[in-house]
Amino acid sequence: MSEDELWLWHGGQQVAVLTSDGLGGAALRYTPEARSWGSFLSVRLPVREESYPWVQCRDFLDGLLPEDSVRSQLAVKERIPGHDTFLMLKAYGRDCAGAVQVLPPGQNPESSPQDTRWLNDGELQQAITSLPSAPLGTSIDQNVRVSLGGLQGKLLVVRRGEVLGVPLDGTPTTHILKPALLNEDGSEVWPSIAQLELLGLSLVGASVAAPQKKRQIAARAEMLTIQGRNAILVERFDRRIVDGRVIRIHQEDMCQALGSRNKYQKTAERLPSLQAIAEVLWENSASPVVERNLLARYLVANLAIGNCDMHARNIGILIDKNTVQLTPAYDVVPTATWKQHDTELSLHVGGELLLEDLTRGQILDELISWGMPLKLATANMDLVLSSLRKELPRVVEASEKEGWHTDEIDVATRGINERIVRFSG
Ligand SMILES: Nc1ncnc2c1ncn2[C@@H]1O[C@H](COP(=O)(O)OP(=O)(O)O)[C@@H](O)[C@H]1O
Ligand SMILES: [Mg+2]
Repeated sequence: MSEDELWLWHGGQQVAVLTSDGLGGAALRYTPEARSWGSFLSVRLPVREESYPWVQCRDFLDGLLPEDSVRSQLAVKERIPGHDTFLMLKAYGRDCAGAVQVLPPGQNPESSPQDTRWLNDGELQQAITSLPSAPLGTSIDQNVRVSLGGLQGKLLVVRRGEVLGVPLDGTPTTHILKPALLNEDGSEVWPSIAQLELLGLSLVGASVAAPQKKRQIAARAEMLTIQGRNAILVERFDRRIVDGRVIRIHQEDMCQALGSRNKYQKTAERLPSLQAIAEVLWENSASPVVERNLLARYLVANLAIGNCDMHARNIGILIDKNTVQLTPAYDVVPTATWKQHDTELSLHVGGELLLEDLTRGQILDELISWGMPLKLATANMDLVLSSLRKELPRVVEASEKEGWHTDEIDVATRGINERIVRFSG
């Protein structure tokens, strides 16, 4: 058994081997069996015989891990260098975004124990309180070996009825719990962030028309209050329960798909950009027109809702049978609600950098730059804006009825109404 190898599993199949370069990176080689798999790990890594050197698989592998401070904290806990992707995956790669599992050679997902540590209220609170120093629930048990992108403190959990637990070893998580981050005085750093994310997800879900009947448009979520602390519990769309077992569904985010280290667009750089994201969909999906229309509708909805944070890691694709489709929308937060939040758009729209200066013409220019005919661009835009206008009061009413309404929701609503008018031209 080689110390410098890791095996990558997808479902019950070993699809690739990672070989450490001794410097923190690794080469990725598909197994001979993967040649008859009929799918791939990333649009940038189609199955082939030769191995992919680190420069080519780096963005995919790094994308399986959390970002910045969360990654550093996890590294400190394990006493490994934070830059060392190979060791980080070895330590935390048992439950990642999508269907990938990273295991030591010789182990397989079936043989590794599947167990969940169910939490009582006190333990759940404890897990949340210790998130800053022990991200993703790693304070609870040393066998919590999970990994997910993003910056916000979160707990990856398994849900059974009303009870939440943390996964031990390779047990798949089913939900993501994102508690509001607190200041030292106990106030929320971003007031009502959990409620606003629920508002954002609910509005996208209600105002973006599904291209196919069964297609899920936005991640399903609900509010939780854990010993007085607000949190949003988001159901994972990359997990499905079949005959009582949790099945993993593969996904990657647009940083992985574009091979971009940056999730925000900087003026001088080509990647990431909405145009390049539209191109990934156009080139890799079975129904390119459908996916491009859906991306356009997601974009218009996010802009009208006031989400400046729709960056390349907040747009994902599900991968199945050598084809891709957009994931349901996730991490939709009307960031423009907070005066102290900057209003720079994570991905520029029609050359515009700031949400408050964005015009209908610039949004249409953006859609046209993807190759979308003007008539279709206009239709997509107006469809979203008119249903958002109709659905907004209903969603706000639901927030009141369900008990998650706050003042920030009223502030967000005023901004959304203003932008609907501005973008309607
Ligand atoms: N509902 C979901 N199902 C599956 N994966 C998700 C879901 N929501 C988010 N993710 C994945 O988890 C990552 C982090 O979640 P996100 O909500 O974006 O957190 P953050 O606020 O920290 O950015 C995303 O980049 C995406 O890959
Ligand atoms: Mg995110």
